[in-house]
Amino acid sequence: MHQSVLLNESIEYLNLKEDSVIVDCTLGYGGHSSEILKRIPKGFLYAFDQDKEAIKHAKERLEKVGNNFEIINTNFVNLKEEMNKRGIKPDGILFDLGVSSPQLDVPERGFSYHHDARLDMRMNQDANLDAYEVVNTYDEKKLIQILLKYGEEKYAKSIVKAIIKKREEKPIETTLELAEIIKDNVPEKYRQKSHPARKAFQAIRIEVNHELDVLEKALKDALEILNQKGRLCVITFHSLEDKMCKQIFNEVSSVPNELKKLPIIPDEYKPKYKLIANVSPKDEEIKENKRSRSSRLRVIERS
Ligand SMILES: C[S@@+](CC[C@H](N)C(=O)[O-])C[C@H]1O[C@@H](n2cnc3c(N)ncnc32)[C@H](O)[C@@H]1O
Repeated sequence: MHQSVLLNESIEYLNLKEDSVIVDCTLGYGGHSSEILKRIPKGFLYAFDQDKEAIKHAKERLEKVGNNFEIINTNFVNLKEEMNKRGIKPDGILFDLGVSSPQLDVPERGFSYHHDARLDMRMNQDANLDAYEVVNTYDEKKLIQILLKYGEEKYAKSIVKAIIKKREEKPIETTLELAEIIKDNVPEKYRQKSHPARKAFQAIRIEVNHELDVLEKALKDALEILNQKGRLCVITFHSLEDKMCKQIFNEVSSVPNELKKLPIIPDEYKPKYKLIANVSPKDEEIKENKRSRSSRLRVIERS
Protein backbone atom coordinates (compact mmCIF):
# COMPACT_ATOMS: atom_id res chain seq x y z
CA MET A 1 0.00 0.00 0.00
CA HIS A 2 1.17 3.54 -0.65
CA GLN A 3 1.93 5.65 2.41
CA SER A 4 1.15 9.29 1.58
CA VAL A 5 3.97 11.78 2.18
CA LEU A 6 3.54 15.16 3.92
CA LEU A 7 -0.18 14.41 4.14
CA ASN A 8 -1.15 16.59 7.13
CA GLU A 9 0.99 19.49 5.95
CA SER A 10 -0.39 19.52 2.42
CA ILE A 11 -3.99 19.23 3.64
CA GLU A 12 -3.42 22.12 6.05
CA TYR A 13 -1.82 24.36 3.43
CA LEU A 14 -4.56 23.69 0.88
CA ASN A 15 -6.76 25.76 3.23
CA LEU A 16 -9.83 23.67 2.46
CA LYS A 17 -13.37 25.04 2.92
CA GLU A 18 -16.44 22.83 2.75
CA ASP A 19 -17.26 24.11 -0.74
CA SER A 20 -13.72 24.27 -2.17
CA VAL A 21 -13.03 23.03 -5.69
CA ILE A 22 -9.75 21.15 -5.63
CA VAL A 23 -7.58 19.42 -8.21
CA ASP A 24 -5.29 16.55 -7.21
CA CYS A 25 -2.95 16.16 -10.19
CA THR A 26 -1.45 12.91 -8.88
CA LEU A 27 -4.27 10.76 -7.53
CA GLY A 28 -2.13 7.63 -7.08
CA TYR A 29 -3.81 5.38 -4.52
CA GLY A 30 -6.01 8.22 -3.28
CA GLY A 31 -4.30 8.97 0.05
CA HIS A 32 -4.35 12.75 -0.35
CA SER A 33 -7.55 12.78 -2.39
CA SER A 34 -9.60 10.87 0.19
CA GLU A 35 -8.52 13.27 2.95
CA ILE A 36 -9.37 16.23 0.72
CA LEU A 37 -12.76 14.78 -0.17
CA LYS A 38 -13.65 14.31 3.52
CA ARG A 39 -13.14 18.04 4.06
CA ILE A 40 -15.09 19.39 1.07
CA PRO A 41 -18.59 17.86 1.39
CA LYS A 42 -20.16 20.74 -0.60
CA GLY A 43 -17.20 21.19 -2.96
CA PHE A 44 -15.75 19.09 -5.75
CA LEU A 45 -12.56 17.17 -6.40
CA TYR A 46 -10.99 16.60 -9.81
CA ALA A 47 -8.22 14.00 -9.73
CA PHE A 48 -5.72 13.20 -12.49
CA ASP A 49 -3.61 10.09 -12.98
CA GLN A 50 -2.17 8.42 -16.04
CA ASP A 51 -1.98 5.00 -14.39
CA LYS A 52 -5.08 2.84 -14.90
CA GLU A 53 -4.17 0.45 -12.10
CA ALA A 54 -3.88 3.31 -9.56
CA ILE A 55 -7.19 4.79 -10.72
CA LYS A 56 -9.02 1.49 -10.22
CA HIS A 57 -7.97 1.31 -6.56
CA ALA A 58 -8.36 5.02 -5.82
CA LYS A 59 -11.87 5.14 -7.28
CA GLU A 60 -13.09 2.49 -4.82
CA ARG A 61 -11.43 4.34 -1.97
CA LEU A 62 -12.98 7.70 -2.89
CA GLU A 63 -16.46 6.22 -3.39
CA LYS A 64 -16.44 5.29 0.28
CA VAL A 65 -16.08 8.99 1.13
CA GLY A 66 -18.44 10.70 -1.31
CA ASN A 67 -19.49 11.08 -4.93
CA ASN A 68 -18.50 14.70 -5.46
CA PHE A 69 -15.41 13.83 -7.53
CA GLU A 70 -14.33 13.12 -11.08
CA ILE A 71 -11.25 11.11 -12.04
CA ILE A 72 -9.55 12.25 -15.22
CA ASN A 73 -7.39 9.51 -16.71
CA THR A 74 -4.79 11.57 -18.50
CA ASN A 75 -1.37 13.14 -18.05
CA PHE A 76 -1.47 16.24 -15.85
CA VAL A 77 0.20 18.11 -18.68
CA ASN A 78 -3.42 18.47 -19.90
CA LEU A 79 -4.53 20.16 -16.65
CA LYS A 80 -5.34 23.58 -18.13
CA GLU A 81 -7.19 22.20 -21.14
CA GLU A 82 -9.26 19.82 -18.99
CA MET A 83 -10.19 22.56 -16.50
CA ASN A 84 -10.96 25.09 -19.22
CA LYS A 85 -13.24 22.55 -20.89
CA ARG A 86 -15.23 22.36 -17.65
CA GLY A 87 -15.04 26.12 -16.92
CA ILE A 88 -13.29 25.49 -13.59
CA LYS A 89 -10.94 27.79 -11.65
CA PRO A 90 -9.69 25.62 -8.77
CA ASP A 91 -9.32 26.90 -5.19
CA GLY A 92 -6.45 24.49 -4.65
CA ILE A 93 -4.17 22.30 -6.74
CA LEU A 94 -1.93 19.53 -5.42
CA PHE A 95 0.98 17.70 -7.04
CA ASP A 96 2.55 14.74 -5.17
CA LEU A 97 5.13 13.85 -7.76
CA GLY A 98 6.94 10.70 -8.77
CA VAL A 99 5.87 7.12 -8.52
CA SER A 100 3.70 5.40 -5.93
CA SER A 101 4.90 2.46 -3.83
CA PRO A 102 2.71 -0.05 -5.71
CA GLN A 103 4.23 1.12 -9.00
CA LEU A 104 7.66 0.37 -7.52
CA ASP A 105 6.66 -2.84 -5.79
CA VAL A 106 4.81 -4.61 -8.59
CA PRO A 107 7.74 -6.21 -10.43
CA GLU A 108 6.04 -6.23 -13.86
CA ARG A 109 6.00 -2.43 -13.93
CA GLY A 110 9.77 -2.61 -14.39
CA PHE A 111 10.62 0.41 -12.18
CA SER A 112 12.60 -1.36 -9.50
CA TYR A 113 16.18 -2.54 -9.25
CA HIS A 114 15.07 -4.93 -6.48
CA HIS A 115 12.81 -7.11 -8.62
CA ASP A 116 13.54 -8.72 -11.94
CA ALA A 117 11.18 -7.67 -14.73
CA ARG A 118 11.21 -6.46 -18.29
CA LEU A 119 12.59 -2.92 -18.47
CA ASP A 120 9.41 -0.85 -18.62
CA MET A 121 9.01 2.16 -16.22
CA ARG A 122 5.99 3.63 -18.03
CA MET A 123 3.54 5.31 -15.66
CA ASN A 124 1.04 5.32 -18.51
CA GLN A 125 0.67 1.72 -19.64
CA ASP A 126 -0.41 2.89 -23.12
CA ALA A 127 2.66 5.07 -23.79
CA ASN A 128 5.00 4.02 -26.61
CA LEU A 129 8.39 4.80 -25.09
CA ASP A 130 9.63 2.43 -22.40
CA ALA A 131 12.90 1.82 -20.55
CA TYR A 132 13.82 -1.09 -22.85
CA GLU A 133 13.83 1.27 -25.83
CA VAL A 134 15.81 3.97 -24.00
CA VAL A 135 18.47 1.51 -22.80
CA ASN A 136 18.76 -0.44 -26.05
CA THR A 137 18.36 2.19 -28.77
CA TYR A 138 19.56 5.58 -27.51
CA ASP A 139 23.09 6.46 -28.64
CA GLU A 140 25.98 6.79 -26.20
CA LYS A 141 25.97 10.59 -26.06
CA LYS A 142 22.24 10.81 -25.37
CA LEU A 143 22.36 8.13 -22.67
CA ILE A 144 25.26 9.87 -20.90
CA GLN A 145 23.38 13.17 -21.02
CA ILE A 146 20.29 11.56 -19.50
CA LEU A 147 22.21 9.93 -16.65
CA LEU A 148 24.07 13.17 -15.94
CA LYS A 149 21.11 15.52 -16.22
CA TYR A 150 18.28 13.49 -14.73
CA GLY A 151 20.29 11.28 -12.36
CA GLU A 152 23.23 13.54 -11.47
CA GLU A 153 25.11 10.23 -11.82
CA LYS A 154 28.83 10.93 -11.67
CA TYR A 155 29.75 7.56 -13.18
CA ALA A 156 27.46 8.11 -16.18
CA LYS A 157 30.25 7.63 -18.71
CA SER A 158 31.52 4.27 -17.47
CA ILE A 159 27.99 2.95 -16.91
CA VAL A 160 26.89 3.92 -20.42
CA LYS A 161 30.04 2.50 -22.03
CA ALA A 162 29.28 -0.82 -20.32
CA ILE A 163 25.63 -0.68 -21.46
CA ILE A 164 26.70 -0.09 -25.06
CA LYS A 165 29.22 -2.97 -24.93
CA LYS A 166 26.69 -5.36 -23.43
CA ARG A 167 23.89 -4.54 -25.83
CA GLU A 168 26.19 -5.19 -28.79
CA GLU A 169 26.14 -8.85 -27.70
CA LYS A 170 22.39 -8.96 -26.98
CA PRO A 171 19.67 -6.52 -25.90
CA ILE A 172 19.48 -5.70 -22.18
CA GLU A 173 16.04 -7.03 -21.30
CA THR A 174 15.47 -6.79 -17.57
CA THR A 175 15.82 -4.51 -14.57
CA LEU A 176 18.25 -6.81 -12.77
CA GLU A 177 20.43 -7.22 -15.87
CA LEU A 178 20.71 -3.44 -16.02
CA ALA A 179 21.25 -3.10 -12.26
CA GLU A 180 24.11 -5.65 -12.44
CA ILE A 181 25.81 -3.77 -15.28
CA ILE A 182 25.60 -0.56 -13.26
CA LYS A 183 26.88 -2.23 -10.09
CA ASP A 184 29.86 -3.72 -11.95
CA ASN A 185 30.88 -0.38 -13.39
CA VAL A 186 31.01 1.92 -10.38
CA PRO A 187 33.74 1.94 -7.72
CA GLU A 188 33.43 -0.42 -4.74
CA LYS A 189 32.86 2.38 -2.19
CA TYR A 190 30.03 3.89 -4.26
CA ARG A 191 28.17 0.57 -3.92
CA GLN A 192 27.98 0.86 -0.15
CA LYS A 193 26.18 4.22 0.21
CA SER A 194 22.82 3.57 -1.40
CA HIS A 195 21.95 1.18 -4.21
CA PRO A 196 24.37 1.96 -7.05
CA ALA A 197 21.55 1.79 -9.62
CA ARG A 198 19.32 4.33 -7.86
CA LYS A 199 20.37 7.41 -9.78
CA ALA A 200 20.56 5.75 -13.19
CA PHE A 201 17.11 4.19 -12.74
CA GLN A 202 15.70 7.56 -11.69
CA ALA A 203 17.21 9.16 -14.79
CA ILE A 204 15.80 6.54 -17.17
CA ARG A 205 12.38 6.80 -15.53
CA ILE A 206 12.37 10.60 -15.95
CA GLU A 207 13.24 10.19 -19.64
CA VAL A 208 10.63 7.47 -20.24
CA ASN A 209 7.85 9.60 -18.72
CA HIS A 210 9.19 13.01 -19.91
CA GLU A 211 8.74 14.03 -16.30
CA LEU A 212 10.52 17.38 -16.21
CA ASP A 213 9.09 18.79 -19.46
CA VAL A 214 5.63 17.83 -18.38
CA LEU A 215 6.10 19.30 -14.91
CA GLU A 216 7.27 22.69 -16.15
CA LYS A 217 4.19 23.18 -18.33
CA ALA A 218 1.83 21.82 -15.68
CA LEU A 219 3.16 24.10 -12.90
CA LYS A 220 2.90 27.20 -15.08
CA ASP A 221 -0.61 26.25 -16.18
CA ALA A 222 -1.62 25.49 -12.60
CA LEU A 223 -0.59 28.99 -11.52
CA GLU A 224 -2.55 30.48 -14.40
CA ILE A 225 -5.83 28.67 -13.71
CA LEU A 226 -5.85 29.08 -9.90
CA ASN A 227 -8.77 31.02 -8.45
CA GLN A 228 -8.15 34.23 -6.43
CA LYS A 229 -6.67 33.20 -3.05
CA GLY A 230 -6.24 29.72 -4.48
CA ARG A 231 -3.21 27.69 -3.40
CA LEU A 232 -0.83 25.44 -5.28
CA CYS A 233 0.94 22.76 -3.19
CA VAL A 234 3.77 20.76 -4.75
CA ILE A 235 5.50 17.78 -3.13
CA THR A 236 8.77 16.92 -4.88
CA PHE A 237 11.10 13.97 -4.36
CA HIS A 238 14.38 15.00 -5.93
CA SER A 239 16.46 18.10 -6.42
CA LEU A 240 15.64 18.57 -10.11
CA GLU A 241 11.91 18.76 -9.49
CA ASP A 242 12.41 20.96 -6.47
CA LYS A 243 14.76 23.31 -8.32
CA MET A 244 12.22 23.74 -11.09
CA CYS A 245 9.39 24.39 -8.66
CA LYS A 246 11.44 26.86 -6.61
CA GLN A 247 12.49 28.80 -9.71
CA ILE A 248 8.97 29.07 -11.13
CA PHE A 249 7.53 30.08 -7.73
CA ASN A 250 10.27 32.68 -7.17
CA GLU A 251 9.75 34.21 -10.60
CA VAL A 252 6.03 34.78 -10.16
CA SER A 253 6.24 35.98 -6.55
CA SER A 254 8.93 38.64 -6.90
CA VAL A 255 9.21 42.12 -8.39
CA PRO A 256 11.43 42.19 -11.53
CA ASN A 257 15.01 43.21 -10.63
CA GLU A 258 14.99 46.37 -12.74
CA LEU A 259 11.96 47.71 -10.84
CA LYS A 260 13.12 46.90 -7.33
CA LYS A 261 14.74 50.31 -6.85
CA LEU A 262 11.56 52.27 -7.64
CA PRO A 263 10.05 54.01 -4.57
CA ILE A 264 6.59 52.77 -5.55
CA ILE A 265 6.03 49.66 -7.63
CA PRO A 266 3.25 50.22 -10.19
CA ASP A 267 0.28 47.90 -9.59
CA GLU A 268 0.73 46.03 -12.85
CA TYR A 269 4.24 44.96 -11.77
CA LYS A 270 3.31 43.85 -8.28
CA PRO A 271 3.61 40.09 -7.96
CA LYS A 272 0.34 38.21 -8.32
CA TYR A 273 1.47 35.31 -6.16
CA LYS A 274 2.76 35.00 -2.61
CA LEU A 275 5.10 32.30 -1.26
CA ILE A 276 3.41 30.55 1.65
CA ALA A 277 5.57 27.63 2.74
CA ASN A 278 8.60 25.48 2.07
CA VAL A 279 8.62 22.45 4.37
CA SER A 280 10.39 19.13 4.79
CA PRO A 281 8.93 16.12 6.59
CA LYS A 282 9.37 15.85 10.35
CA ASP A 283 11.85 13.33 11.78
CA GLU A 284 9.01 11.04 12.90
CA GLU A 285 7.65 10.83 9.36
CA ILE A 286 11.09 10.05 7.93
CA LYS A 287 11.53 7.31 10.54
CA GLU A 288 8.16 5.79 9.66
CA ASN A 289 8.40 6.20 5.90
CA LYS A 290 11.86 6.20 4.35
CA ARG A 291 10.43 7.30 1.00
CA SER A 292 9.64 10.70 2.55
CA ARG A 293 13.25 11.56 3.37
CA SER A 294 13.98 13.46 0.17
CA SER A 295 10.57 15.10 -0.07
CA ARG A 296 9.72 18.78 0.17
CA LEU A 297 6.45 20.69 0.03
CA ARG A 298 6.31 24.14 -1.55
CA VAL A 299 3.17 26.25 -1.39
CA ILE A 300 2.22 29.43 -3.23
CA GLU A 301 -1.00 31.51 -3.21
CA ARG A 302 -2.65 33.64 -5.87
CA SER A 303 -3.08 37.03 -4.27
C1 LIG B 1 3.44 9.65 -5.42
S1 LIG B 1 2.07 9.02 -6.28
C2 LIG B 1 0.71 9.89 -5.57
C3 LIG B 1 0.22 9.30 -4.29
C4 LIG B 1 -1.03 9.91 -3.73
N1 LIG B 1 -0.87 11.31 -3.40
C5 LIG B 1 -1.48 9.14 -2.49
O1 LIG B 1 -1.38 9.70 -1.39
O2 LIG B 1 -1.94 8.01 -2.64
C6 LIG B 1 2.20 9.80 -7.82
C7 LIG B 1 1.11 9.40 -8.81
O3 LIG B 1 1.11 10.39 -9.83
C8 LIG B 1 1.00 9.78 -11.08
N2 LIG B 1 1.67 10.65 -12.03
C9 LIG B 1 2.97 11.00 -12.04
N3 LIG B 1 3.22 11.83 -13.07
C10 LIG B 1 2.03 12.02 -13.71
C11 LIG B 1 1.63 12.78 -14.84
N4 LIG B 1 2.51 13.49 -15.53
N5 LIG B 1 0.33 12.76 -15.19
C12 LIG B 1 -0.58 12.03 -14.50
N6 LIG B 1 -0.25 11.28 -13.43
C13 LIG B 1 1.03 11.27 -13.03
C14 LIG B 1 1.66 8.42 -10.93
O4 LIG B 1 1.09 7.52 -11.86
C15 LIG B 1 1.33 8.06 -9.49
O5 LIG B 1 0.17 7.29 -9.41
